[in-house]
Amino acid sequence: MNQRLKSRYGPWAIVTGASSGIGQAFATELATAGLNVVLVARNESALANLELILRKAHSVQIRVIVADLAESAGVISVIEGTKDLEIGLLVASAGFGSSGPFLAADIAEHQNMLSVNCDALMTLTHTIGARLNAQRRGGVILLSSLLAWQGVPNSAVYAASKAFVQSLAEGLSLEWKSNGVDVLSCAPGPVLTAFEKRANMTIKAGATAEQVAKASLRALGKRSVVIPGVLSKVLSYSLFTCPRPWRVHIMKQVMAGLSNYGKS
Ligand SMILES: NC(=O)c1ccc[n+]([C@@H]2O[C@H](COP(=O)([O-])OP(=O)(O)OC[C@H]3O[C@@H](n4cnc5c(N)ncnc54)[C@H](OP(=O)(O)O)[C@@H]3O)[C@@H](O)[C@H]2O)c1
Repeated sequence: MNQRLKSRYGPWAIVTGASSGIGQAFATELATAGLNVVLVARNESALANLELILRKAHSVQIRVIVADLAESAGVISVIEGTKDLEIGLLVASAGFGSSGPFLAADIAEHQNMLSVNCDALMTLTHTIGARLNAQRRGGVILLSSLLAWQGVPNSAVYAASKAFVQSLAEGLSLEWKSNGVDVLSCAPGPVLTAFEKRANMTIKAGATAEQVAKASLRALGKRSVVIPGVLSKVLSYSLFTCPRPWRVHIMKQVMAGLSNYGKS
């Protein structure tokens, strides 16, 4: 697999959300496969630490870009900071969720989520995608979610943001196929990362970030959607057998179990 990744998606990959969880696992897998990696997130010390680890373990180049992707200046710094590199892959993993009633959160929080989960992801996909299509080679992995397939009460904005990502990835995967650019939506169910803390949830069982990254890199170029992990597969296939309105009711119960909102 390493040789395939390097020749089809090298020499450089950009990974957003590389300071933690799934993004960090992608960066590690890609460096292991011999790709040079641009690490993007806000947490400078976590990125510096990962840079050190990857440089030590693999003979690859690492570039760190500290950027807040909720701000257009942060997105521009990623675009400007990678102009000189031959990019073959974009992994857009930066994102976060929330739980609780829609009206309980300030509108600025919802807008911030859309900026990171949708706007920054779309802008980077547009800019880097243009370069990949022009060179007629490369890949894009967009982090969707199991929540993308229906509305989710008490995580309504997050689910809607992931529905956007899912739909964008499906559309682009066919649009860019004939240009030699592979687009993959990675739609996991629960994953054991720092995600739960920021989303005010407790996730007791799920896939590991490493499993998600490995399954996605295996699927890239072969499929347009990957649902990594056994639990995610079981949950998604049982959901897919239900009509959409039922799924919204089921997800309401699921979210009531996961969310810590109003429980303490
Ligand atoms: N964990 C799950 O159960 C799960 C399930 C389905 C989908 N996903 C999706 O998978 C992706 C990765 O999540 P994860 O599980 O790896 O969570 P995580 O461990 O919390 O990682 C989230 C990453 O996003 C970055 N990020 C958040 N806000 C940012 C901002 N304003 N600017 C730049 N970077 C930002 C964080 O970096 P900094 O804080 O350093 O900026 C961090 O590196 C997300 O898109 C999430 O929606 C997660």
